[in-house]
Amino acid sequence: MFHHEILHDPQIVTKVNEFINRNKDSLIAIVTSGGTRVPLEKNAVRFIDNFSMGNRGAISTEWFLENGYAVVFFHREESLKPYSRKFMHIFEHLQVNEEDGKVVATGFDGLAESITKYNTYKNRLLYIPFTDLDQYMHMLDVICKQACPLGPRLLIYLAAAVSDFYIKREELPTHKIQSTNGDLQLKLSLVPKMLERLVSNVVPNAFVISFKLETDESILIDKSRSALEKYGHQVVIGNILSTRKRKVVFVYPSGQVDPIEMSDDQIAKHMEIEELIVDKLKVLHEKFISIRNSK
Ligand code: PMT
Repeated sequence: MFHHEILHDPQIVTKVNEFINRNKDSLIAIVTSGGTRVPLEKNAVRFIDNFSMGNRGAISTEWFLENGYAVVFFHREESLKPYSRKFMHIFEHLQVNEEDGKVVATGFDGLAESITKYNTYKNRLLYIPFTDLDQYMHMLDVICKQACPLGPRLLIYLAAAVSDFYIKREELPTHKIQSTNGDLQLKLSLVPKMLERLVSNVVPNAFVISFKLETDESILIDKSRSALEKYGHQVVIGNILSTRKRKVVFVYPSGQVDPIEMSDDQIAKHMEIEELIVDKLKVLHEKFISIRNSK
């Protein structure tokens, strides 16, 4: 399914329940991916958006699938998807064979392999799209509530870039803001962090990983530690905007830090850091399940 419409609550509930039933022998991961959009008008013409294309979420989903997980891929509509992510510009590489009229793709290494992988894993992959911040907040809550009975077998991987600021509904103008009114002053309110409610009320037994994105390396570890203290979840993965594709740091509730950095050799082999992240998380998740089950 590559074209989506925004789903209503009962549709999400049905889809997630069917998916969980179909994959009841697998570990389940909910992966959030891409950026949220914040409208500036009720009949929105303009938005505040962010940089994320959803690379982290899409690549990680591939590795969760490879590691036996069934994945609810909760993503920004039109952001990158697992397996198709490398082939966004396919149209320019397609040619029509003059003799039989068949379309052939040239210069796309790995296309056949990606299609095969997608077809192998598609029953373990559920796409649920969001666009705006309020959809993200609400739908994530609905999805997590359905998955809550999975207990410690549920892993939640919050890689989406969620806006920290928005305009409250009651303060949004109904119609397009007019430039004839002169300079535009915006008052943005702070988005309530949903991680706290998620961890303490919605999925208290799940294994929850959040990401911390900074541009200033000197504050990354402290901010990650304070997120763990505040929300009480299992792992924060810290990353710096400019280096996020080759190094990240795992931070644990004990305060311990565990950096992962791609070696030159791994970079030369075109490995992606998400493979290392997910391998590590699988080990931590299995340990978490056995500790929770022995209690
Ligand atoms: O998509 P890519 O280009 O590959 O980039 C990947 C990434 C840099 C977006 C990703 O690795 C990342 O760091 N994602 C989290 C970015 C972010 O929103 O950080 P934050 O410090 O604002 O939020 C921390 C955590 O709280 C996040 O896991 C977020 O999902 C969660 N959050 C944020 C806001 C909010 N209102 N409620 C939340 O629960």
